[in-house]
Amino acid sequence: MQESKPRPRTLAASGSSWLLLLYLAAVVPDGVLQTRAQPDSNGFISIDCGLAGPSYVDETTNLTYQPDAAFTDAGENHNIPSYNVLPGLQGLYGDLRSFPNGTRNCYTLRSLTAGNKYLFRASFMYGYYDGLFIPPVFDLYIGLNYWATVEGWSLERSALWWEAIVVVPDNSVQVCLVKTGATTPFISGLELRPLKSSMYPQVNVTQGLVLVSRHSMGQTGTTIR
Ligand SMILES: *[C@@H]1O[C@H](CO)[C@@H](O)[C@H](O)[C@H]1NC(C)=O
Ligand SMILES: *[C@@H]1O[C@H](CO)[C@@H](O)[C@H](O)[C@H]1NC(C)=O
Ligand SMILES: *[C@@H]1O[C@H](CO)[C@@H](O)[C@H](O)[C@H]1NC(C)=O
Repeated sequence: MQESKPRPRTLAASGSSWLLLLYLAAVVPDGVLQTRAQPDSNGFISIDCGLAGPSYVDETTNLTYQPDAAFTDAGENHNIPSYNVLPGLQGLYGDLRSFPNGTRNCYTLRSLTAGNKYLFRASFMYGYYDGLFIPPVFDLYIGLNYWATVEGWSLERSALWWEAIVVVPDNSVQVCLVKTGATTPFISGLELRPLKSSMYPQVNVTQGLVLVSRHSMGQTGTTIR
C-alpha cells in the first residue's frame, strides 16, 4: 500500500492520453440506516449537491441528476456566481452544499447491493461561493475509512474530483466530509456506479482503489468522457 495521496484532477487540463493508474488504499465502508432515495435502473446514483430545483437530465451523458436533500440532513445550499463557473460546467458545478456546522457531515447512499463493487466519484468547485477567496481543505471518508484530502486548488475556477472503487459490505454506505481546519467543507457532486465484480480484481472487501489519474493513450485533443 502506498502512502501518497491522489493528486486532484482539474477539468481545465486536457488529457492527451488515458491510462488508468490506481493505487491501493484500505477503504472499507461501514453500514448504515434508513431508505429514502433510490438508484436508477442502471444502479447509478447521480447527485447534484446543493441543487435546489428538481432533478434534471445532463445533456452530454443523458444521466439524471437528483438534488441532494434526500441524502443528507445537514448543510446549506449555495450557488456559485456564474462568472466563476467555466462554460459547460454550470450543471453539476453551478451549485454546492456547504457544512458550516459540525466536524463530520455525511451523505447516505441507500438501496445498494451488499458485497457489490462500486465506483464513487466526488466533485468540487469552490468558485468563491462564500466570497472568502480561501479554497477549503478538508477530508473525505467512505464510511469510517479515509478516502482523500480535498486540496490542490491550482486554478481559480478549477473543478476537482476524486474517485474510489470499493466493495460495499452493506446495502447502504456513507460518504462523509470531515472538517480538518478553519475552512468549511463543501461538495458539488456525488456519483455512484455499480461495477461488475470481475472488474478491478485487486478490490475486495478489505481493500479499495483510489484513482491517481486516467489517460487515453494516443488520443489527441481535449478531454473526453
Ligand atoms: C438521450 O435520451 C433521449 C431520450 O431517451 C434519446 O433520444 C437520445 O438519443 C439520448 N442521447 C444520448 C446522447 O444518448
Ligand atoms: C449552524 O448552526 C447555527 C447556530 O446553531 C444555526 O443557526 C444554523 O442554522 C446552522 N446551519 C446549518 C446549515 O446547519
Ligand atoms: C484482499 O486482497 C488483498 C491483496 O490481494 C489480500 O491480501 C486480502 O487478503 C484480500 N482480502 C480478502 C477478504 O479476500
